[in-house]
Amino acid sequence: MEELKLLISAEEIAKRVKELAAQISQDYKGREVVFIGILKGAFIFLADLVRAVDLPQLEIDFVRLASYGKSDTSSGEVQITKDIELSIQGKDVIVVEDIVDTGYTLAYLRDVLKLHEPRSVKICCLIDKAERREIEMEIDYCGFKVPKGFLVGYGLDFAEKYRHLSGIYEIVRKK
Ligand code: IMP
Ligand code: MG
Repeated sequence: MEELKLLISAEEIAKRVKELAAQISQDYKGREVVFIGILKGAFIFLADLVRAVDLPQLEIDFVRLASYGKSDTSSGEVQITKDIELSIQGKDVIVVEDIVDTGYTLAYLRDVLKLHEPRSVKICCLIDKAERREIEMEIDYCGFKVPKGFLVGYGLDFAEKYRHLSGIYEIVRKK
């Protein structure tokens, strides 16, 4: 087992998710919004976010992306392994991501989604590791800024483990 240290508690996450949801509800009032969650990491964040958002017409879809690189850092090579199923043409899209690290994953997805001619594409991420960014990537809604470290919990995994944890933890020691 790895050694984990609590970084963001479930209560802090819940509070911040409500704040983000309130901001989004205000910004998109009366609009047709499609929330696109990036599997698997964003599934818990998306589930909490959409239940806190006050937009009666919202729709939900998912993509799954694979990036090729070393195990805990992504490379520029990203591939869609599960595409969106809803039409986003003319709609406002909010991409929901767990964590933005180098930025390659989201930059790629944003460009691909734009080919579907949505009205707009904005990014909502729970955690921004801004110091590790390698490609310019504007984040419209950000839960928490964290400088570094490998994080798990609340959807985030290490080798598919720890996604179920309610808080966010840093792996302080790998065994
Ligand atoms: P990027 O393309 O480097 O921005 O990589 C983002 C993706 O890498 C996220 O969608 C996560 O799946 C994964 N990732 C980056 N940092 C972490 C972390 O600390 N814990 C778990 N997954 C991470
Ligand atoms: Mg991910």
